[in-house]
Amino acid sequence: MWLARLLPPETAHDVALYGLAWVPQLRGSKKDEPPLRQQLWGRSVSNPIGLAAGLDKDAVAVAGLARLGFGVVEIGSVTPRPQPGNPKPRLFRLAEDQAVINRMGFNSAGHEVVFRRLDRYRAKAGNTGPLIGVNLGKNRESEDPAVDYAAGVVRFSGVADYLVVNISSPNTPGLRSLQSAEPLRLLLDRLAEARGRGGLRPPLLLKLAPDLSGEERAIIAETAIAYAVDGLVVSNTTITRPPELHSRHRTQSGGLSGRPLFALSTGVLADFARLTQGRLTLIGVGGVASGADVYAKIRAGASLVQLYTALIYDGPGLVRRIKAELAALLARDGYGSVTAAIASGLTAASTARVRAL
Ligand SMILES: Cc1cc2nc3c(=O)[nH]c(=O)nc-3n(C[C@H](O)[C@H](O)[C@H](O)COP(=O)(O)O)c2cc1C
Repeated sequence: MWLARLLPPETAHDVALYGLAWVPQLRGSKKDEPPLRQQLWGRSVSNPIGLAAGLDKDAVAVAGLARLGFGVVEIGSVTPRPQPGNPKPRLFRLAEDQAVINRMGFNSAGHEVVFRRLDRYRAKAGNTGPLIGVNLGKNRESEDPAVDYAAGVVRFSGVADYLVVNISSPNTPGLRSLQSAEPLRLLLDRLAEARGRGGLRPPLLLKLAPDLSGEERAIIAETAIAYAVDGLVVSNTTITRPPELHSRHRTQSGGLSGRPLFALSTGVLADFARLTQGRLTLIGVGGVASGADVYAKIRAGASLVQLYTALIYDGPGLVRRIKAELAALLARDGYGSVTAAIASGLTAASTARVRAL
C-alpha cells in the first residue's frame, strides 16, 4: 500500500510532495523507449504521460516529478497574488470508488514565488527534462479575471513550454461561466494582447470542464480556433455525481476526479476531437490509471495524457508501469510509435465527423 494513503488526505499530499522534492533519485528514471517519443511544439517529448495540474501548484517539486518519469509536468493553478484557498477539510478520498472530491479553491503561493522557483529549475535543467506547463488561475477576489490571466501569460511566458488558462475549476465562484461564448471571446481578445507583451509565445491552451453541453462545446471549439488558441485540456473535475459512487464522501461539494470521471471526460475529449479536426492539440485527462486508459484517450484524439488521482492510490511507480503498458499496446496493434497512434486517433475523429454530418 502506498504509505501516504494512511494519512489524512491533505497531509498525505503535502508529505508526498515535499518528499519528492528531497529524494535525489527515484525509480522510473531510466530512459524512455523510443516509440513513446514525439515532437510537439518544437520540443522532443520523451513520453506522452503528463502530471495534471493541482498536485504541484507552487512548483516545489518540479525536479522530483521530472525524475518520476513524466514526459510533461503541469504546475499550478497559480494565482497572481498568494491566497489560502478554501477552509479545510477540502480534499476527500473516495477509496472505494478510486476517486477524490476536492474544493481546494486555488490555494496558491502566487506568481512571484512560483516564477522564481521555475526560473531556478530552468537555469539548472534547461530543456532537458519534461515539458513544463504552467496552469493559470485567478484570485478569488479579483474583479476582472482577464487581468489575472493576462498577468499570468506575461509572467510565465519565459519559463513555460506551454500555458493553460484554467476556466473550469468548480471551486472559484463564476469561473466556469468564462467558458460561455461572449466572456470567452472577451477573455481571448485580452490574452492575444498579453501574448504580444510576453516576449516568447509559448502555446496557449484552455482547460475545460467535462460538464459542458454539446452546444457549449461547439461554440468553444469554434471560438478557440478563431482566436488561434493552440490546444485544449479536456477535462477538469466534474460537479456531477455518477450514481455508482459508494463512498460516504460522495455528497461533499467540489470537483470529482479519478475512475468515475474516465468515461465522461473521454467522451467529451472525443467530441472535441471531432469538432476541432486536428487543428488544436488535445490533452486528455480524467480517470487515467493504466496504459489502456492512456491508449483510449490517444485513440479518442489526445496527443498527451495527464493524470493526478491515480497517483494518490497507486503511488509513484505508476508512471513507469503505465509507460510499459502503453508501449506493449502500441506494439500489439502494430504502431511503430505513439505518433502513429495519435495520427490514427485523429483520423478516427475525422471519420466520426463525416458520419455526424
Ligand atoms: C486535489 C486536486 C487539486 C486540483 N487542482 C487543480 C488546479 O489547481 N488546476 C487545474 O486546472 N486542475 C486541478 N485539478 C484537476 C486535475 O488537474 C485533473 O483535471 C482532474 O483531477 C482529472 O484527472 P484525474 O482523474 O487523473 O485526477 C485538481 C485535482 C485534484 C484532485
